Amino acid sequence: MPIHHVDLNNQSSRLDIYATKASQDSLPKYQLPKGRTEPRAAYALVRDELLLDGNARQNLATFCTTWVEDEVKQLMTDSIDKNMIDKDEYPQTAEIENRCVHIIADLWHANKSRKTVGCSTTGSSEAAMLGGLAFKWAWRKRREAAGKDTSKPNIVTGPVQICWKKFARYFDVEIREVPLEGDALGLKPEDLRQYCDENTIGVVATLGVTFTGIYEPVEALAKELDAMQRDLGLDIPIHVDAASGGFIAPFIQRDLVWDFQLERVKSINASGHKYGLAPLGVGWVIWASQEDLPEELIFYVDYLGGNMATFALNFSRPGGEIIAQYYNFLRLGREGYTAVQQACSDTAQWLGEKLAALECFEMVYDGHGGLPAVAYKLTDTVQGFTLYDLSERVRMGGWQIASYPLPMNRQETVVQRILIRHGVSRDLAQLLLDDITRSIDHLTKNPILNSTAKPGFHHG
Ligand SMILES: Cc1ncc(COP(=O)(O)O)c(C=O)c1O
Repeated sequence: MPIHHVDLNNQSSRLDIYATKASQDSLPKYQLPKGRTEPRAAYALVRDELLLDGNARQNLATFCTTWVEDEVKQLMTDSIDKNMIDKDEYPQTAEIENRCVHIIADLWHANKSRKTVGCSTTGSSEAAMLGGLAFKWAWRKRREAAGKDTSKPNIVTGPVQICWKKFARYFDVEIREVPLEGDALGLKPEDLRQYCDENTIGVVATLGVTFTGIYEPVEALAKELDAMQRDLGLDIPIHVDAASGGFIAPFIQRDLVWDFQLERVKSINASGHKYGLAPLGVGWVIWASQEDLPEELIFYVDYLGGNMATFALNFSRPGGEIIAQYYNFLRLGREGYTAVQQACSDTAQWLGEKLAALECFEMVYDGHGGLPAVAYKLTDTVQGFTLYDLSERVRMGGWQIASYPLPMNRQETVVQRILIRHGVSRDLAQLLLDDITRSIDHLTKNPILNSTAKPGFHHG
């Protein structure tokens, strides 16, 4: 009988991947390996490591896209080698970015008689920083022209996403985050006089507050700032952080006035990779007019062969997400976006009703009038488990739903939030509801005496 010698070092493509040398060792983690690995084997081994990640489709803690059409995947592959900053080398990608800026500006009612400007970013965080920087520069210019002190800029906000705290710290601006009093969930017009002054570079209004999904009342905030200009002579602009709502309100809350229809709104950001339905890595920021973006912030880059204006914190960046954003605009149109967002919103409201009927929850946001989301707290009568325990328990079924305290001054209120996005069907929501119901039943019968479960989610 012939004896077969198996050479594990032979990484020829005929070998089974899980019988190669590479698959017999643990993977290098801290030093570059000495030799090479056959591509199929390297791919399989890296892919297998990813099995330990959560299943993105069941991640209802994230605002970001977790489902895309095959055509989007194909376009991402087709454009893997395109650097969006090389606008001279990839002029059509630059043209597509330009078209997206126009389409989004139009969605947000930019005034066609003024020169609206905007750009893509890596996400809403970078977009928010650019919006904040434009405010800071414009404020400083006004103050310098009037011979006034420019050393103490501040920005007034409601409960904002972390990116605004980063902006404030990185760019030396005091953040005045108005605390939540009583049952407030966001910034209110009556807060403004107390927190704004001559050093306020701008007010941030959030369309789709990260913690709950509600919209802050942009129109009422703008009216109050108009009144403050009349009464106090303070002319304070608004930036709308519409990270999520910027791609919801134009489709399913069309009567809501929150965008460039309001003279006081000077800039708006949104995440293409959230309800914009593009894959991860793209955001947008638009200014009502060129005058709202100080010229000093624009860099003209000529070493790539042309002379291109850029305003960005980054330089090289993939072009695929921008291209995929344009694909979605073309593919879905106004009708398609409306259908997708309405379906998400209907499912969120349906889920809100079902959760409210479980009687252990008190709804904080029931999915009406804001983002396709629900947020709720435990009723006072519930004992034996916390929302953190419930988050942990449903994680056993693969679901990721976020629990965390509300921001200042409502930190004692812990809420749980579920986001419904493209790709979360009614059936999937029902399966989640079944798991939540089973988990509550289990936790009620098996109370947790010394719970160690903690908030474990970032708001992204
Ligand atoms: C209101 C708001 N602004 C900004 C961001 C940051 O967005 P990105 O993750 O696109 O940087 C988020 C993320 O959830 C958000 O909800």
